[in-house]
Amino acid sequence: MKILITGGAGFIGSNFIHYWAKNHLEDEIVNVDVLTYAGNLENLKDVESLKNYKFIKIDIAQKDEVEKVISSEKPDVIVSFAAESHVDRSILGPEEFVRTNVLGTFNLLEAARQNGNIRFHHVSTDEVFGSLGPNDDPFNEATPYDPRSPYSASKASSDHLVRSYFHTFNLPITISNCSNNYGPYMFPEKLMPLFITNLIEDKKIPLYGDGMNVRDWLWVEDHCRAIDLILQKGKIGETYCVGGATEKTNKEITYKILELMKKGEESIEFVADRKGHDKRYAIDFSKIKNELSWEPQVDFSDGMKMIVDWYQKNQVWWKAVKSGVYADYYKKNYENRN
Ligand code: NAD
Ligand code: TYD
Repeated sequence: MKILITGGAGFIGSNFIHYWAKNHLEDEIVNVDVLTYAGNLENLKDVESLKNYKFIKIDIAQKDEVEKVISSEKPDVIVSFAAESHVDRSILGPEEFVRTNVLGTFNLLEAARQNGNIRFHHVSTDEVFGSLGPNDDPFNEATPYDPRSPYSASKASSDHLVRSYFHTFNLPITISNCSNNYGPYMFPEKLMPLFITNLIEDKKIPLYGDGMNVRDWLWVEDHCRAIDLILQKGKIGETYCVGGATEKTNKEITYKILELMKKGEESIEFVADRKGHDKRYAIDFSKIKNELSWEPQVDFSDGMKMIVDWYQKNQVWWKAVKSGVYADYYKKNYENRN
């Protein structure tokens, strides 16, 4: 089988390629990515010399580039991760989010339809469902969409488009809406790797607002396994909510990182809140549990040890990333927050 992965040079995409190469030795893997600030071929050093792996640089927002790659590669399956993925960046500059997440997904769907109705899995987020109150039930597949950031609105739009191609054109699609992932190769603009790397550099860690916003956390390989199961056994046209059963406030995450890194709370700097900051995300993943026998395998305390350890051992990787284009973004996002 030939699997074409978009956004495979990013955080989850590169973990997925490692996972696929390890678990599906016979398959051909084609990774298409434009290599934005978040795309990094260093994430794929372990697989780049494999005979069954190939990288092609294209921009999914360019229709002709997408059509050319899909029609020449003729994949059996497309798994689409490519997106602008960071909420704070979507507040600073929303346009790129509409371009890649909406137009880019549209181009992929069109190419999949025009080239023999290719099996298409769309990787999405729980953020499309909006923000929960402390006592609300977790999101599930029937929760109405209520996105509140340009990031989540653009992902919601892409989900709707993907579903429309199933109903209108019979494109064999599935969608997964997953909670916050954590693990290796996570770009150090996101909460966990930013805090871990700042602490290694003896810098302060900027906690937004009162630190009481809640996220549900899932070890990235558990997410990869969920997508694999959906591809093998998922029902065409369906959506699956994927979560970690690990709801934590940002304060809890912060204190866990401080404890593991033997640092004190004087490292915390409370800074102005994110605009429109969603209060709480939580996932009811009983559908994928009951239908596909999927459950998270990595528990939170093991996962936290593994992520801290990874960033301690891979300083060359993240120091290169942090000293590059990231520095400008950091200045824009964090200056004048206090
Ligand atoms: P990421 O930002 O680390 O990686 C995105 C990748 O897409 C990068 O390699 C980038 O170069 C590529 N890309 C961006 N624009 C492109 C374009 N126009 N053409 C081709 N490639 C392009 O993101 P991530 O955290 O790995 O997330 C991957 C997917 O999973 C996204 O669709 C995101 O919405 C979804 N998701 C992420 C999380 C999370 O916690 N990170 C949770 C649930 C769902
Ligand atoms: P993030 O990692 O950006 O993921 P998302 O917004 O997609 O959930 O943020 C996770 C949580 O951490 C979110 O509630 C915002 C908060 N946060 C901070 O408090 N400080 C920071 O510097 C960052 C990047 C995030």
